[in-house]
Amino acid sequence: MDRIVVTRTLPEAAMSLLDDAGTVWVWPEDRPIPREALLREVADASGLYSMLTDDVDQDLLDAAPALRTVSTMAVGTDNIDLAACTARGIPVGHTPDVLTETTADMAFTLLLATARRIREGIAYVVDGHWRLWEPNLLLGTEVHGTTLGIVGLGRIGSAVGRRALGFDMRIVYAGRRRRADLEDLGVSYMTFEELLGESDHVVISCPLTLETHHLFDHDAFRLMKPTATLTNIARGPIVDPLALKWALRTGEIAAAALDVTEPEPISSDDPLLDLPNCLVVPHLGSATTRTREAMAVLAAKNLVAGLSGEPLPACANPEVYRDTLPT
Ligand code: DGY
Repeated sequence: MDRIVVTRTLPEAAMSLLDDAGTVWVWPEDRPIPREALLREVADASGLYSMLTDDVDQDLLDAAPALRTVSTMAVGTDNIDLAACTARGIPVGHTPDVLTETTADMAFTLLLATARRIREGIAYVVDGHWRLWEPNLLLGTEVHGTTLGIVGLGRIGSAVGRRALGFDMRIVYAGRRRRADLEDLGVSYMTFEELLGESDHVVISCPLTLETHHLFDHDAFRLMKPTATLTNIARGPIVDPLALKWALRTGEIAAAALDVTEPEPISSDDPLLDLPNCLVVPHLGSATTRTREAMAVLAAKNLVAGLSGEPLPACANPEVYRDTLPT
């Protein structure tokens, strides 16, 4: 029987798929599995069902000589050494598509909330400052009819763009890949620097890679409009936190909303949290009951397929099949 290691408690629908495929061991606590426990548990595992909080690197692969499939309950795979998995013939499953619309909803929630100063508005009411309607109280920036810059026009970025069309926004994008199909719909490609100068609101929806690590640094913020907002729903380390603090304090940009931080979790005494023009939520992009269940089930299907020697429904390193599948 294959041994399957699961690093967090899963919904029943996902568990029953795994139970049919092997002997399942689940980390029982409601916090990420400590590294030593993970390395110990994978020693004789054939399948690893992991979270974005678990690093799957060379050391883990060395500790898991029998591992045949890795499946992460996330679309992002920056915590997984894909090349090392491929070199060992291990397919890696992830969860694209099922979370696209939900994460785009969150991007738009944060964009609107930050442009319209919702954090400050809530604090104003809760702190008892609200007396009468005031003509100049907490004036924000317009969203409709402005320019939205999307950094990374992949699945989630495109879904953000579709929402922006409903707000009559002009949409520009930068990223590794040109999207001719979307350019036909009026979305314009620009260099990253041009996008920063043109956009009233910037949404980050690109993967974290060596190229995008601290892409938003001092130079980037200096190019943005002082009235601009920044929303990050991708990965924390794409934004240099010190440069962001400086930009928010000195008015290089108007406001920021972060679903992801560096480090993650952000410390509760981090000065970023004291800035009224910064809104931070705890990596909730895909956090609806239905979407998390869909992610859990897709990740389970990926693992089960991998252990039975079948192609994964959603494989993050399809090159692993290059030598094994018929062309
Ligand atoms: C992912 O899937 O990569 C998200 O960040 C988690 O929702």
